[in-house]
Amino acid sequence: MQFAKRMDRFGEGIFTKLSDIKSGRLQRGERVIDLSIGTPNIPPAPHVIEALCTAAAEEKNYIYALSDQSELLEAVSSWYKKRYNVELDPKTEICSLLGSQEGLAHISLSIVDEGDIVLVPDPCYPVFADGPLLAGAKLHYMPQNKENGYVINLQDIPEHVARQAKLMLVSYPNNPTTAMAPDSFYADLIAFAKKYDIIVLHDNAYSELVFDGQDCGSFLAFPGAKEVGVEFNSLSKTYGLAGARIGFCMGNAEVVSRLRILKSNMDYGMFLPLQHAAIAAITGDQSGVETTRKAYERRRDVLCEGLNAIGWSMEKPSATMFVWAAIPGHYEKSEDFAMDLVAKAGVIVTPGSAFGPSGEGYVRMALVQDTEILKQAVDAVHDSGILIRSME
Ligand SMILES: Cc1ncc(COP(=O)(O)O)c(C=O)c1O
Repeated sequence: MQFAKRMDRFGEGIFTKLSDIKSGRLQRGERVIDLSIGTPNIPPAPHVIEALCTAAAEEKNYIYALSDQSELLEAVSSWYKKRYNVELDPKTEICSLLGSQEGLAHISLSIVDEGDIVLVPDPCYPVFADGPLLAGAKLHYMPQNKENGYVINLQDIPEHVARQAKLMLVSYPNNPTTAMAPDSFYADLIAFAKKYDIIVLHDNAYSELVFDGQDCGSFLAFPGAKEVGVEFNSLSKTYGLAGARIGFCMGNAEVVSRLRILKSNMDYGMFLPLQHAAIAAITGDQSGVETTRKAYERRRDVLCEGLNAIGWSMEKPSATMFVWAAIPGHYEKSEDFAMDLVAKAGVIVTPGSAFGPSGEGYVRMALVQDTEILKQAVDAVHDSGILIRSME
């Protein structure tokens, strides 16, 4: 058998390794507290489940959807107006996705050709790099590190790279670093994209998971944003619908239209009962969004305060469902630390190196367990003695 050379761009990666370790431990009856993958465990609101079940009980809803129902497009448009004060034309500026991951994986195929340069944050959510790689792009990393407050420094992008780049991916609140970007960053980003004729993809998966009374809007609310790009949004975390696979790409009509054409050759649209569930989620009672936000804030407090108290120093994140922590000083490699942590404490975290070169020296912990389990994780880290040398 012969396979595509393009597959050489992808490995099985750290998540498979961690998953194998987890299975091995569970088979041996050993405890595991998994804080690696960001799978939310907070269910959707009852009215969303009811809308899904009602629509799923109707025989007529089992045809190919083929396209987004006008009711869904209108609902997304109203949601963006009400929540973010952004006007979207339902006919031309919105495209549903089978989860935002799907859209992020595919959209580069509609924008870049083999060898084109794509600007990607480092560290980043893996599909930001994998989508462009699938399309044959060359990546130019834009560091997000402690020195720049984990926000991309546009001035650091060399002029010749900016001139050649066709596309850039940006996302705040950020996974994995948890950073938010100031308004001034978005103004600079739009000016930069206009100057160099670069399409911007902004991923807004975490605008609702913002803590300590802060607020977060949309990239599309900034003047000129729609001229240069689109925003991705997801119902996975905000509405507890991760497994349902519901996301949207919104903004620049030309970018949206190319993505729609591409997708019409790949899938037959979102299952109609899911379109009904999405409408219920974004137009119905929004109190569940606040409950979810508070749950993550509590989890963040328990984990960060607990780990700080036992000598692992880290800042509390101001947003997202993750904690981004520097590894203890006596470790050099984040993967070595993560492997020791699971072996000695049974706690699984993701090494920062999995998110790009600038992620080295950090681990990401996902707040996907209830507070009681997070307290147990803190105790397990303490009892393992893994931090001891860093406290000497
Ligand atoms: C930044 C970011 N974008 C997108 C996604 C994927 O979301 P979806 O479930 O809509 O595919 C995630 C999931 O963890 C994420 O962290």
